[in-house]
Amino acid sequence: MLKIGSYQLPTNIIMAPMSGCTDLPFRLIAREEGAGLCFLEMIDCNSLTHNPDRTINTLLKTDSKDRPIAAQLVGADPGAMSAGAQILLEQVSVPFLDINAACPVNKIVKKKAGAYLLQKPLVLSKIIKRLIKDLKIPITVKLRIGYEKYDKRALVGIVKKCEDSGAAAIFIHGRTMAQLYHSDVNYEAIKVVKQNVAIPVFGSGNVMSPELAKKMLDSTGCDGVMVARGGLGNPFIFKEIEHYLKTGELLPAVSFQKRKETLKRHLAYSNKYLYSKGRVGVMRKIAIWYLKKFPGAAHFRDRVTRTNSYEDMIKLIDEVGA
Ligand SMILES: Cc1cc2nc3c(=O)[nH]c(=O)nc-3n(C[C@H](O)[C@H](O)[C@H](O)COP(=O)(O)O)c2cc1C
Repeated sequence: MLKIGSYQLPTNIIMAPMSGCTDLPFRLIAREEGAGLCFLEMIDCNSLTHNPDRTINTLLKTDSKDRPIAAQLVGADPGAMSAGAQILLEQVSVPFLDINAACPVNKIVKKKAGAYLLQKPLVLSKIIKRLIKDLKIPITVKLRIGYEKYDKRALVGIVKKCEDSGAAAIFIHGRTMAQLYHSDVNYEAIKVVKQNVAIPVFGSGNVMSPELAKKMLDSTGCDGVMVARGGLGNPFIFKEIEHYLKTGELLPAVSFQKRKETLKRHLAYSNKYLYSKGRVGVMRKIAIWYLKKFPGAAHFRDRVTRTNSYEDMIKLIDEVGA
């Protein structure tokens, strides 16, 4: 049975954190369709100390149905990470807390956080140790396979340092920071990580289908996978992967009606839970994710970008294929 620290995981298929995407409505739908363990969106530790109310009302918004839920913090300083984490834990109980050492976004890297930490194993080690000392919950780390390029020795050095510092698991995205999201996933590098630590290793990258989830597990030997972009507009993927891994068979394709109904439920949650400012823009983005698999997608996309309210969007979805 797979554990992170003493926490027994309900599944080894985990919904990855994705800033600006995996909010409460996203997670509720993912769970209703089969996701067993989700992450809150990444949170900047300083936003928790400088602007706690706003962070609590947005990124930390959750619900009793939204369990189990893990959290991920980004930051550069052990003390600031610990202070932010303590505010977070007063609000939400999480089975483990992840440190982001993978985010390639300029405004994060400029603050010497996220993927920047790939170049600073000592700082990362100090953050891990400080969080373990102050929080008494398992601490995990999300990494990429390198900063500018993949260097096996450097990667082995950093994952061993994480393990020696007390990290309870590694989430590893099989691309370098420089590669962002577009190139092939380096399964070999993930395999190297798995072979060099005793703690659980979860592979991330291109888990877009049940077959690609199996490929990640088989070719790297990792303990579990993270589903990221494969879940956008496709919350069915969690059940599909679990079924395929258990039986070797693919579930029948989700019907158009079921996709439409799920999109409408997702939008209803967004309408209920999201801040009114910018809500319609978020809903358009969600509709566009789902409609990729709709017949007449281009036409629908064009119309959805011109809708200005939740009600109009629902009307439009009802009309598609009617
Ligand atoms: C829009 C977007 C936002 C993301 N935000 C985060 C994040 O906040 N924290 C994190 O660890 N990874 C984040 N990621 C990376 C994913 O968790 C995942 O590792 C990456 O997308 C590779 O998986 P994929 O190829 O299956 O999408 C993000 C990815 C995307 C596309």
